[in-house]
Amino acid sequence: MEVVIVADARAGGELIAGAMAQLLARKPDAVLGVATGSTPLPVYEALAARVRAGAADTSRVRIAQLDEYVGLPAEHPESYRSVLRREVLEPLGVGLDAFLGPDGTAADVQAACEAYDRALAEAGGVDLQLLGIGTDGHIGFNEPCSSLASRTRIKTLTEQTRVDNARFFDGDIAQVPHHVITQGIGTILEARHLVLLATGAGKAEAVAATVEGPVAAVCPASALQLHPHATVVVDEAAASELK
Ligand code: F6R
Repeated sequence: MEVVIVADARAGGELIAGAMAQLLARKPDAVLGVATGSTPLPVYEALAARVRAGAADTSRVRIAQLDEYVGLPAEHPESYRSVLRREVLEPLGVGLDAFLGPDGTAADVQAACEAYDRALAEAGGVDLQLLGIGTDGHIGFNEPCSSLASRTRIKTLTEQTRVDNARFFDGDIAQVPHHVITQGIGTILEARHLVLLATGAGKAEAVAATVEGPVAAVCPASALQLHPHATVVVDEAAASELK
C-alpha cells in the first residue's frame, strides 16, 4: 500500500484527477469507479477542469457506482444516481448510457445486487476505484464487521453513518434511508487500482487503523492492505494519527 500525504483536499483532488487522466490516455474506455460524499468532490472538480482544458478525454469512459440507497427513487435528488449525475457525469460530459449502477428500487434487491456484480464483470471490471472512508472505517457502505470477501449486497446503515449523512437530507435523520446496496469488499478488491482519499482530522483515526492496524473486519478499509495496487491519499490532518 502506498500512502501519499498532500497539503490539502485540493492537492489530493489534483493528484487523483491526474492519475485518472493518465489512465484515460492509456485506456480511453476505462471503467472509473466513483464514490459519493463530500471527500471526492475536489477530484471530480479537478478532472472536469482537465476535460474543459482538453487535458483529459472522457468521451469513452465508463462510470461505475459504488453504492446506492435502497428505496429512494432514482430521480430523488439524494439518490446516488442523481448525485453522481450532478457531480460526475454532467461535469465530465458523460451520458447515462456510459453509467453502471445497481437498481436501488428493484423489487428483488438481491437479484439487483447479483445483476450489478455481473454487469461490472461484463464491463471488464473497474480500472480505478475511488473510495472515501467513513469515520468508522467503512468503504462503500461496508460497515464495520462486514465480511472482507463480501459481494454486492444489501446492508443496514449504522446509526453513526445515518447521522453523518443527515446533512444531505436537510439535517433530518428521519429522511435518511436505513438500507443501501453496496459493492462488497470482495467486489471492491477486484478493481485494478484502489485510490482512497481521506481529508480532515475527523478521518485520522480511521486512516491510522486502515494503514497501520491489522487487516480486520472491524475496519473494512484495512482490506486495502490485501490489494496489490492500493494508494491512500491523505491530507495532513487525516494523516495526523499515523506513526
Ligand atoms: C459513499 C461512500 C462512503 C463515503 C464515506 C465518507 O459512496 O462510498 O463510503 O465515502 O461515508 O463520506 P464523506 O466523504 O462524505 O466523508
